[in-house]
Amino acid sequence: MKLLEKGYLGTCQIRNRSVMTAMTTGFAGLDGAPTEQLTRYYEERAKGGVGLIVTEIFRVNNVHGVAFPRQMYALNPMNVQPLAQMTARVHQHGAKIFAQIHHGGSTNAPEMNNGRIVAPSAVPNVSGIMPDPLTLEEIEELKQQFIGTAAACKAADFDGVEIHGAHGYLLCEFLSPAFNKREDQYGGSLENRCRLINEIVQGIKAVCGKDFPVGVRFSCDEHDPFHEDSLKLNDGIEIAKCLEAGGADFLDVSNGNYFCPHSENEEPYSYAQGCREAETKAIKDAVSVPVIGVSNIKSPEVAEKLLQDGACDFVGIGRQHIADPEWIKKTAEGRPEEIAHCIGCLYCFESLMTVGYARCSVNPKMGREGIFHDDPVKDGNGRKVAVVGGGVAGMEAAAVLGQRGFDVTLYEKDSKLGGEVNLAAATAPYKDKVGWLTTTLTKAMEKGNVKVCLNTEATPALVKEGAPIAVFLAAGGKPIVPPLPGIEKACLAADVIRGRKLTGKTVIVGGGLTGLETAEVLFREDPDMDITVVDMLPKIGMTMYPPIYDDVVKQMNGKALTLCPGYMLKEVTDNGVKVTKTDDQSEAFITADNVVLAMGTRPNTALIKDFEDAFDRVLVLGQTAKNPGRIATSMFDGYINARAFEF
Ligand SMILES: Cc1cc2nc3c(=O)[nH]c(=O)nc-3n(C[C@H](O)[C@H](O)[C@H](O)COP(=O)(O)O)c2cc1C
Ligand code: SF4
Repeated sequence: MKLLEKGYLGTCQIRNRSVMTAMTTGFAGLDGAPTEQLTRYYEERAKGGVGLIVTEIFRVNNVHGVAFPRQMYALNPMNVQPLAQMTARVHQHGAKIFAQIHHGGSTNAPEMNNGRIVAPSAVPNVSGIMPDPLTLEEIEELKQQFIGTAAACKAADFDGVEIHGAHGYLLCEFLSPAFNKREDQYGGSLENRCRLINEIVQGIKAVCGKDFPVGVRFSCDEHDPFHEDSLKLNDGIEIAKCLEAGGADFLDVSNGNYFCPHSENEEPYSYAQGCREAETKAIKDAVSVPVIGVSNIKSPEVAEKLLQDGACDFVGIGRQHIADPEWIKKTAEGRPEEIAHCIGCLYCFESLMTVGYARCSVNPKMGREGIFHDDPVKDGNGRKVAVVGGGVAGMEAAAVLGQRGFDVTLYEKDSKLGGEVNLAAATAPYKDKVGWLTTTLTKAMEKGNVKVCLNTEATPALVKEGAPIAVFLAAGGKPIVPPLPGIEKACLAADVIRGRKLTGKTVIVGGGLTGLETAEVLFREDPDMDITVVDMLPKIGMTMYPPIYDDVVKQMNGKALTLCPGYMLKEVTDNGVKVTKTDDQSEAFITADNVVLAMGTRPNTALIKDFEDAFDRVLVLGQTAKNPGRIATSMFDGYINARAFEF
């Protein structure tokens, strides 16, 4: 496989063609030094066989360059030694490590930057805040900060650096005519817009030596419909040539900017694997330096195809390295079927934005590598345990218990495993990625010799027959059905997703992901259907991560979809729904032939007492215990309860 062949970025030999692209984790210290958590996270990926790790962003100053509170920073001399420890920990497993150097430009938050944000020009940022254009003196200072950061990274034994010129951040803003309106030597012509990056590259070479690899990540197409002059692929090709001429040892080709609600950079569900092949190939064909191509890659076959097609010299892979740090090792050892696939849910980015550090839906160990470094102790000794419920929490618990050597029986009332994941996967063909999790967990359960009883409603009496020493109750959630007049006339979103046919005008109550996906399902059956989505919250999709909301809604462009936020359901009648407006309590009526409830789920507590009465040890998992259920929380619940189980 070409994927497993060694290659070069500048003078740096990389053991294979896989590059873990930069991904901010929020695991660095507040002082910008690497923590044990961060080091362990990178070390695990190095151990898993990746060729090159490009770290998350390093800031270059604390004045206007802070993008995240927990962000790497190399210009504090105190941080060099811990950074050197980190690179050594990566190197001991044969991987190489480059530092990504960054300035967020106008995407930075004023509150983290002394109230002031900067950019090439005064173009408002996505929140409407006007940045200060950088003066020539400030540009010179900034250049020295990039160069100084690279020198500090070299001192800490990094193998090279990558300058972050992508995604709408400062250096991307310099490249893009939409954000760079300067009339001096840093604005206007292509050469002028590339000047700052080229001067940084040349400055680093002058200080760190010409053999020290320096590359540039850039967005070859910003895919930004809101800014007319934003970069398109043709511009990207010219930029690539100019950056090569400027001395970059390699180009890391990305897409998109953070000025758009949609994500063309971290592609959500609807994008296919390999979706950036055309863009990456266009850049590769235009330059002779090596090209790293990112392309929503989850499987080795897709990575290999991109390399064989000559679309890139190295495959840039982000999230798949979060989901399974060992994916390249499993590929090299001929065990690709054991790879846990990233499902494209973007929970990693969502959690970074909401709680300040990344977590993964499918990998409960992500960011906890230092805690769960050893395999769970194999002390089950064939003792019997039962798992009730074959959703993700139950499957994960069963797999871990099986691997610990317990004799595990899992009961699932449905005809297949997966629980609500199956429902999500059934909403659109492109949602098959969600279903990959069921495949991953089924394989893991097979490894643990878990016995599976499908089509089996687990009662305490039935489970007792197996004489388990403990029951892991993971019976999932129950749909919320409010006790309102006429509610029995409504049907459930789950029924529609499972194939119930509806005709005529439809109201969906609940504007979260399930409600919107139900609309998508209905439109696929009848593209002319008239659908209204009602929600009591002031915005439809308010609880959803914006790129995921955008990804679903764009599937329904041009359809008769009416969004009605701020209305609370009061009654279901034979010909529609009575609702009240949440702000002024005024009443309204929406006519409909069908009413579908997508109002979320609540913990399914019905079974808990029955099982607790019958067994000494009952562990309640996933949505049975917690609300609202997310894949990540259910997976972690299954993992930790099964791992920590003592008897
Ligand atoms: C949680 C997260 C953090 C990211 N942080 C960065 C970053 O610091 N620098 C960067 O250039 N790209 C960043 N990215 C983008 C990734 O490097 C990558 O380009 C993107 O995820 C698409 O590749 P993939 O489909 O293989 O994940 C981030 C992506 C994710 C999911
Ligand atoms: S959180 Fe979702 S998108 Fe992110 S790595 Fe995990 S599975 Fe992939």
